[in-house]
Amino acid sequence: MKTPEDAYSAAPFVPAHADLAALREAAARCRGCPLHRDATRTVFGAGAAHARVMLVGEQPGDQEDRRGVPFVGPAGKLLDRALAEAGIDPGEAYVTNAVKHFKFSRSGPGKRRIHKAPSLREMTACGPWLATELALVEPELIVVLGATAGKALLGSSFRVTQVRGTLLEHEIHGRPERLVPTVHPSAVLRADDREAAYQGLVSDLGVAAGALGR
Ligand code: URA
Repeated sequence: MKTPEDAYSAAPFVPAHADLAALREAAARCRGCPLHRDATRTVFGAGAAHARVMLVGEQPGDQEDRRGVPFVGPAGKLLDRALAEAGIDPGEAYVTNAVKHFKFSRSGPGKRRIHKAPSLREMTACGPWLATELALVEPELIVVLGATAGKALLGSSFRVTQVRGTLLEHEIHGRPERLVPTVHPSAVLRADDREAAYQGLVSDLGVAAGALGR
């Protein structure tokens, strides 16, 4: 039977009173929207259970989908470098995505998997996983990586260019949160002036480091 798009939701798959390990296990079986059909696996968040900082990206990419870990591909490597340069130890962060399955189309002779942006409905459907990660990790600060993460956390009117590199305070799922938005590291990799874009990312992450008292 086809599920109407409005009815997409991870909520029925999210166990009550679970810790992060149980949550990760349950997420592996999520069928809350159609993205699980083509992706290899769910890519759940990773990192310290009570990390002071949570980094939220868009969705796993090709390499993350193959390996089952967020931000292990080229964008993740760039992000780790920028975090370290800004004074945040990447190993101390909890890293996750707004959407937990890789969305792609196939193109070209080798039928390469090309990233496709998740729809608002898919983001909304996946929201209960992110909400539960936030409630369990209770980070002091959220670094919002790009527009999709921003819309998932702060609503559809979020514009990264307007608020990047600023410390925001916002209630999310009933909890007051502090957030620093910045561009997605993939946008740095695609930028014409990569060095300037990279320095912009480091500078925004410096605001996050400052908010953590670094
Ligand atoms: N881009 C993301 O937003 N998340 C990942 O895990 C990898 C690339």
